[in-house]
Amino acid sequence: MICYNINVKISTLSHAPSPLGEGDGSPLTGTRHGSSSDILSPLPSGEGFRLIFGGRMGHFLPTMVLEIVSYGHPALRAKGRKISEVNDEILQLVEDMLETMEAASGVGLAAQQVGIPMQVCVVDITGVKDRPSEMWIDGKAVDHEDFMPLILINPKITLSGRERSGNEGCLSFPGLSGDVSRHEKVKVHALDEEGEVYDFEASGLLARAIQHEFDHLQGVLYIDRMGQAERKRLAGDLEELLARSQG
Ligand code: CO
Repeated sequence: MICYNINVKISTLSHAPSPLGEGDGSPLTGTRHGSSSDILSPLPSGEGFRLIFGGRMGHFLPTMVLEIVSYGHPALRAKGRKISEVNDEILQLVEDMLETMEAASGVGLAAQQVGIPMQVCVVDITGVKDRPSEMWIDGKAVDHEDFMPLILINPKITLSGRERSGNEGCLSFPGLSGDVSRHEKVKVHALDEEGEVYDFEASGLLARAIQHEFDHLQGVLYIDRMGQAERKRLAGDLEELLARSQG
């Protein structure tokens, strides 16, 4: 059991986007366009305390809303570094990411999107009623809402089922959305916020959101998976986003 002090210092990890490929020699597949912070909302837009991890651990951490980087920021093209230990810094990052996702009304957020290329993402599809999801643990159907928000550390996924096209947005592409083909079902193996291994299967919107976030952790963006027609339709908007992030 890890305990927190309410006066715990907000990690510097939360404020300073890490240099790319930090420590792991990850190849950077994107083009460097520099910081996009000039086009983003000032920080922090919200600070508070959160009863962490659905009350399972029963402690409070101070949290803050982090800056979400937009298309063109090099962190989005960096493969996330594997997390070797779920320590206080990682827990702080996770908490801040949950706060940030909530503030942005997103259903998922990857560490790359707050400028920190590490293998951690969060997903919360609570309240989405028009796009069904299913979840299974040990082959038994469970209510996915009981497991939200999902915290996926060093996740591995196995895809199954046929591919279906569906509409997606991404917090790093404000105002844009497009159709992306994804597998219907996904099997997930990850660490939770306590560093414990867990496994589950998901389908529907949940499976889609997990595939989208998993891609972020590899430096892959949803536009990479769009068909030619969608890419063409969004080309002008994407150029505009890039130009803004180049500042
Ligand atoms: Co995204």
